[in-house]
Amino acid sequence: MSKAKKFVALFMALALTFSMFALTGCAADEEEPETTEGTTDEGAEPAAEEFVLVEEGKLLVGSDTAFPPFESMNGDVAEGFDVDLMNAIGEKLGLEVVFMTEIFDTLIPTLKAGGKFDVIASGMTIKPERQAEIDFCDPYYDSNQSVVMKAGSVYNGPEDLAGKKIGVQSGTTGEAWAQENVPDAQLVPFKNATEAFSAAAAGNVDAIVNDLPVSTELLKEDSRGLEIVAQIPTGEQYGFAVSKDNPALRDAINEALAELRADGTYAEIYEKWFGIAPE
Ligand code: ARG
Repeated sequence: MSKAKKFVALFMALALTFSMFALTGCAADEEEPETTEGTTDEGAEPAAEEFVLVEEGKLLVGSDTAFPPFESMNGDVAEGFDVDLMNAIGEKLGLEVVFMTEIFDTLIPTLKAGGKFDVIASGMTIKPERQAEIDFCDPYYDSNQSVVMKAGSVYNGPEDLAGKKIGVQSGTTGEAWAQENVPDAQLVPFKNATEAFSAAAAGNVDAIVNDLPVSTELLKEDSRGLEIVAQIPTGEQYGFAVSKDNPALRDAINEALAELRADGTYAEIYEKWFGIAPE
């Protein structure tokens, strides 16, 4: 080989080596993420756990259905904001929603015990004490308390209720507010809100402490001589609740709820029951 040929051969060999190196380097680069993926979490992700139901194909709902406009009975059919929202959630999950009337006070222990219903939808406020017992889904409604008395009553603050008979629904945040804020409160517990209002109309209690949107609704058509004398900004949030043994159901409800908010169904249902758009 001439010097010139040797030079060309050497040059070509170098060029080849270099290009091969460049090519393999490049190929290795491209493959790298795939390799990493394959060796780390590919296939390692656990399958989303299935939720459990008391009855296959059904979402059984425990609710104190005397709490309009969230839940009330129209003949033997439950209706209200919670009912429409639960039905829409059921539709997303492919489940038939069945409302079962229960005393409010018994909802949490019954859900915990299991075997009767899958979810609580009952205008229930999310509270730490309750979160220790059951799992709440994401909040779906903002609420406050109210004081209801005979129209024309003087109310400047909880001290005006001192020593008076105050009707409350057992086990509610209204009851807790009265216990904590009214000096020498004489609490008269009722099974549900409608009974407390009847007692106030009849003069058997001097005042009621109850969730504001429900008091508004109960006085709307026939106030029976009662009025809301104060709004108490407790800043409560309602949440649907499931057993702590059923986190997959909580996640599924949250996902459905998020979809209903995104697709406008939530706003539609809200406007239907409250006459205004949600904030
Ligand atoms: N928000 C209040 C609470 O959680 C009252 C709920 C009462 N609900 C009903 N359906 N009666 O204590």
